[in-house]
Amino acid sequence: MTNHIPETLDDLNVLLKRYLKSSLDHEVEINAYVPPAELRSIVDIDPPEEGIGEDQLAELAKSYLDHSVRTGSWRYMNQLWSGFSLPGLVGEMTAAVSNTSMFTYEVAPLATLIEKAMIRRLCSLAGFEGGGGLFVTGGSNANLVALMAARYRMSPESSLQGIDGRQLRLFVSDQAHYSFSKAAHIMGFGRDHVITVESDELGRMKPDDLKRVINEQRALGAVPFCVAATAGTTVLGAYDPLNAIADVCDEENLWFHVDGAWGGSALMSDQLRHLMAGCERADSLTWDQHKMMGLPLICSTILFRDPTTLLKMNGLGGEDYIFHGSDDGDLGPMSLQCGRRVDALKLWMAWKAYGRLGFAERIERLFDLAQHMGTRVVAHDQFELVAPVSSLNLCFRYVPHPDATDEEIDQLLIQARTELVRSGRLLVNFARVQGRPCWRVVLSNLDLTKELVDQAFDEIEASCRRVRLDLT
Ligand SMILES: Cc1ncc(COP(=O)(O)O)c(C=O)c1O
Repeated sequence: MTNHIPETLDDLNVLLKRYLKSSLDHEVEINAYVPPAELRSIVDIDPPEEGIGEDQLAELAKSYLDHSVRTGSWRYMNQLWSGFSLPGLVGEMTAAVSNTSMFTYEVAPLATLIEKAMIRRLCSLAGFEGGGGLFVTGGSNANLVALMAARYRMSPESSLQGIDGRQLRLFVSDQAHYSFSKAAHIMGFGRDHVITVESDELGRMKPDDLKRVINEQRALGAVPFCVAATAGTTVLGAYDPLNAIADVCDEENLWFHVDGAWGGSALMSDQLRHLMAGCERADSLTWDQHKMMGLPLICSTILFRDPTTLLKMNGLGGEDYIFHGSDDGDLGPMSLQCGRRVDALKLWMAWKAYGRLGFAERIERLFDLAQHMGTRVVAHDQFELVAPVSSLNLCFRYVPHPDATDEEIDQLLIQARTELVRSGRLLVNFARVQGRPCWRVVLSNLDLTKELVDQAFDEIEASCRRVRLDLT
């Protein structure tokens, strides 16, 4: 069954190089949208009874790539992740070929040392000197693990005996990511018990309101257990005031989590680190390297100031067949999963290639580009920013004329965005801020230039103008 390794890899090599070359070609557009029924009719998707053999694997890969969205292209500004990382790809391919799992040093020797080294370095940047952590399956999972740790500290016995009926309350801002609500659902303390705190005009949590809602909940007999601040909110890219929130957590004796899935990478830069001031006072930090650091999905970490947190909480079982009390420093007992990918390898490769300073320089450039695009939005008669630009997110509306109604503005936006995305010229999303849609552009591709950012803005502007003419 494995006679085809050389030919298949050679064919794949040609195919992948061609795909990457075209994705990274500035002139090439992102694939135009194809509706599901049409796509199903183009590609034979059903898994067959009788296999077609291994010699068509490259054909299958080609068919897959032909119908994939070119997320490596500069035209992909839809998400908090985009672009292409060569060291990341090399790390992914190497990890896939070596196909091991992070549970024991015995089966993942260098991988274990690499993961520990990366966690140590990330912790020291976070201000958790001597802290600990792990690579996890994404920011949502990291947030869940942090909340589990917060509850475990308050009530270690809940691990064995179940939740004791205490009415736990988590506090997040009204801009926080939905993963906190999911975590409340998974952990069983209830989505209604995630209490939202008001944010200011930039989208930052208001510490006074935090204090108020904590008191309110205590007066109702509920038990606050954790405050989760956001460093880089999903829609507006805002950084919560971490020091002021840490003060409240100290006063109230609450676990302080920072969700830096998006914005935590500011820690890489001496120039931008001030955005994370106060992070060193947190108990835990979520930090996705597949977002602002451009690593391929998934590359995500949960970090703790107390290095013993994960082992105490998750070291439950497996001694009968896998963990034999080795003193090699197995990482498996710290993890919620048993099998776990070697996601640290691609970060290590990229860090070796660029160094911290290389990452810092590229992230700083993106912050400058976001300010540049913000300036263009403000200078334009028909565009208005929904909120000042805090980091790499730009949220704005097109107001065709001064008398335009909210309905007109909203309809124009949805139509212009659909037209633009379907054309393949730019893939950019919209978000709702205070209930109303706005363009939400994210500059997360580390290879963006001023020219490309200008071209993106021109594309959006042109599509708004076209739709405006159609509507009049
Ligand atoms: C602030 C924030 N936290 C958490 C997450 C979840 O991260 P992931 O997609 O890696 O699960 C996101 C995703 O966009 C986010 O913006």
